Amino acid sequence: MSTEPYKNVSLLPQTNQLVGLYSIIRDKDTARPDFIFYSDRIIRLLVEEGLNHLPVQKRDVMTHTGENFPGVDFLGKICGVSIVRAGESMEQGLRDCCRSVRIGKILIQRDEETALPKLFYEKLPEDISDRYVFLLDPMLATGGSAIMATDVLIKRGVKPDRIFFLNLICSKEGIDKYHAAFPDVRIVTGALDKGLNEQKYLVPGLGDFGDRYYCI
Ligand code: URA
Repeated sequence: MSTEPYKNVSLLPQTNQLVGLYSIIRDKDTARPDFIFYSDRIIRLLVEEGLNHLPVQKRDVMTHTGENFPGVDFLGKICGVSIVRAGESMEQGLRDCCRSVRIGKILIQRDEETALPKLFYEKLPEDISDRYVFLLDPMLATGGSAIMATDVLIKRGVKPDRIFFLNLICSKEGIDKYHAAFPDVRIVTGALDKGLNEQKYLVPGLGDFGDRYYCI
């Protein structure tokens, strides 16, 4: 599936390497340790791709050979915000790339009375409006939680074009809805799936990401 109709969607290159990683985590017979290991590899690629979109400024570097290297420095501070629980699986991948990165959390759950997503908890860096924010949630299904979490960030003063929403798999429905709500947020994903089943799981998908990552 192409990302052509969408502005600001970065789909990881669909190399054999990447498709191989997805084949392992999508396989229903993959055991939990392998599910974690190969998901973590994909998460690392998503974080690296997100970092590629940060602004830089030129900086010349003198090397040990006495020659100049025309380099760059990253500009701006970043932080992560995970949507609890599944998004927490992506925190380590961000920490592995960005030492001492601050990470906030947002908890959204289905309200039993209305069946709609409800915000239960948020803990975010106080200076979040000055930061580029990596929003972490592995699966973009209906888009309800991601839209609510992004609203929380924007109400805290984060500009949409400073938000990077990282996920492993998007549904067509989820990406359409999310992109219509926030055309300036950059979505970084590794796979676009054709849809959702009656239980609102992505298809072909991989099942419940949080259960497969966290439960034995
Ligand atoms: N969350 C999951 O973990 N899996 C899906 O398919 C959809 C939402």
